[in-house]
Amino acid sequence: MKTVFVTGGSGFIGSNLINYLLKRKTVKIVNIDKLTYASNKNFILSNNPLYRHYKIDIKNKKKIDTLFDKHKPHLIINLAAETHVDNSIIKPDAFINTNIIGTFNLLLASKRYIDNNLFFKNKFKFIHISTDEVFGDIGFLKKSSIENDPYRPNSPYSASKASSDHLVRAWIKTYKFPAIITNCGNNYGPFQHKEKLIPKVIINSLLFLPIPIYSNGRQIRDWIFVEDHVRAILHLTRFGKLGESYNIGASNEISNINVVKKICQKLDYLYPSQNKKYKSYSDLITYVKDRPGHDQRYALNTSKIKKINWKPITAFETGIDKTIKFYIKKINE
Ligand SMILES: NC(=O)c1ccc[n+]([C@@H]2O[C@H](COP(=O)([O-])OP(=O)(O)OC[C@H]3O[C@@H](n4cnc5c(N)ncnc54)[C@H](O)[C@@H]3O)[C@@H](O)[C@H]2O)c1
Repeated sequence: MKTVFVTGGSGFIGSNLINYLLKRKTVKIVNIDKLTYASNKNFILSNNPLYRHYKIDIKNKKKIDTLFDKHKPHLIINLAAETHVDNSIIKPDAFINTNIIGTFNLLLASKRYIDNNLFFKNKFKFIHISTDEVFGDIGFLKKSSIENDPYRPNSPYSASKASSDHLVRAWIKTYKFPAIITNCGNNYGPFQHKEKLIPKVIINSLLFLPIPIYSNGRQIRDWIFVEDHVRAILHLTRFGKLGESYNIGASNEISNINVVKKICQKLDYLYPSQNKKYKSYSDLITYVKDRPGHDQRYALNTSKIKKINWKPITAFETGIDKTIKFYIKKINE
């Protein structure tokens, strides 16, 4: 059975990816995750013989080399990252270290591994997971970003992701390194940390805490259900062309304020407020000062991945219901 390395496998997308793969029972999974505050600490599958977790920093070259030699993976999916834009503004150091140096280290370790193992040289693939934020603010006139658009990152987070993408690209061009870069829009779904917009809105509502909205909330994001992102990543591991970049998205542009209002409306129906002060959860919406360098709009053109027969299958209405129910259950546990 083949082995897949997933870095950051205890994070939001990683947990969903690993759960999805384990249900299929077709590969062994090695999760390399140092378990930062953002990880799902109780995501422990120790009884599953197809799963191993190593609490290792992706910057630790020696330990990563050892893991490669021990497990001989066919594939690495690099999800390990610092991901919260607000944190990157206050303290960018970890973003530079993990997102840039960490990716550099994985590239070094992977190249060493395939150079020393001729059997894996033509089989190994490195899938680098990135974001639409590297294209920067596309404003309201441009339709959407395509893969070849120039990178114009505006936050320390997106700049660190852009830098890591450039490193992967350089490895592809210089060393014919077998990698694919993916750029996805905003994910939502189960297992996301409560610092991010959608879990924060749901959890704050259920706790009757203010729901903070930056500025007027008119910033637009392109939302995709996490399981659709997972399916796209796995589709690319089989059908993506090495050396290429692929946008992943659901062409589902919604302003932040409309996402928040939609969740409040759903919660009013699914879990009606018993608090006399707040008849509707939308009464908790509180506008706060904007964050510096806040991009107004991201949107992705996904024709390229659609040409190789991938498309999203989860409507926002369905995905958001599943997400809300996940957090209602979690808060009542
Ligand atoms: N969530 C989104 O909407 C979104 C959209 C597009 C792209 N992405 C990208 O997908 C990837 C995963 O995002 P996510 O939302 O799951 O992130 P997350 O913050 O939920 O999880 C990141 C995981 O990486 C681990 N990690 C961090 N630094 C590490 C290190 N130095 N060594 C080992 N493990 C480390 C953390 O412990 C955590 O479990 C990131 O690269 C992110 O840029 C995310």
